[in-house]
Amino acid sequence: MKTENTVWHNQHISKGQRAALKKQKPALLWYTGLSGSGKSTVANAVDALLYKYSCHSYLLDGDNVRHGLNGDLGFSDEARIENIRRISEVAKLFLDAGLIVSTAFISPFASDRALAKAKLAAGEFIEIYIDTPISVCEQRDPKGLYKKARAGEIKDFTGIDSNYDVPAAPQIHIKTAENSIEQCAEQIVAYLIEHNFIS
Ligand code: PPS
Repeated sequence: MKTENTVWHNQHISKGQRAALKKQKPALLWYTGLSGSGKSTVANAVDALLYKYSCHSYLLDGDNVRHGLNGDLGFSDEARIENIRRISEVAKLFLDAGLIVSTAFISPFASDRALAKAKLAAGEFIEIYIDTPISVCEQRDPKGLYKKARAGEIKDFTGIDSNYDVPAAPQIHIKTAENSIEQCAEQIVAYLIEHNFIS
């Protein structure tokens, strides 16, 4: 817990200086979308392209983070809020290290995404809406979770009995049902080039 005896220490080397070593501008690629929408797949494809561009990037992925750091959290509204809070703090640290960070979490609540954005400098938070209709996600059902949710075996399932706030003005809007993964990844990398995050 933070107390009045906890004092923030500024570091000698800034985020900008660390990023300059890598010839990149730090950014947080915040992927959001329903389960099965393709967040992880697109984020991984972008990460692979960033590697080709010699960028130093890191991907924080929903299921993986829930195996470790957030292994104590379930899927109630409160648990999801805490999940996203911790992830946004970790992402901020990675940005401070000068990296281009991707987070692939459902992050269903607009207020939590806004809080993550507010932790960063202007322009660093790039919201990427993986806009895949629930009917397509349900048809894909890669983990069989929609089937279980429909059968009542999983409670609080996003899009079924738990809310998803559609992003009002995402920086990047991705439609995985209409484009290939490669096209989606290139759309995102093109944005990063256009806005001088990478070259
Ligand atoms: S959240 O809402 O941002 O806290 O969720 P996230 O950390 O991204 O975890 C989503 C993955 O957890 C699995 N899963 C569920 N998703 C939604 N609702 C419920 N109830 C649920 N239970 C388990 C599911 O595999 C999600 O993975 P993705 O990659 O999104 O399909």
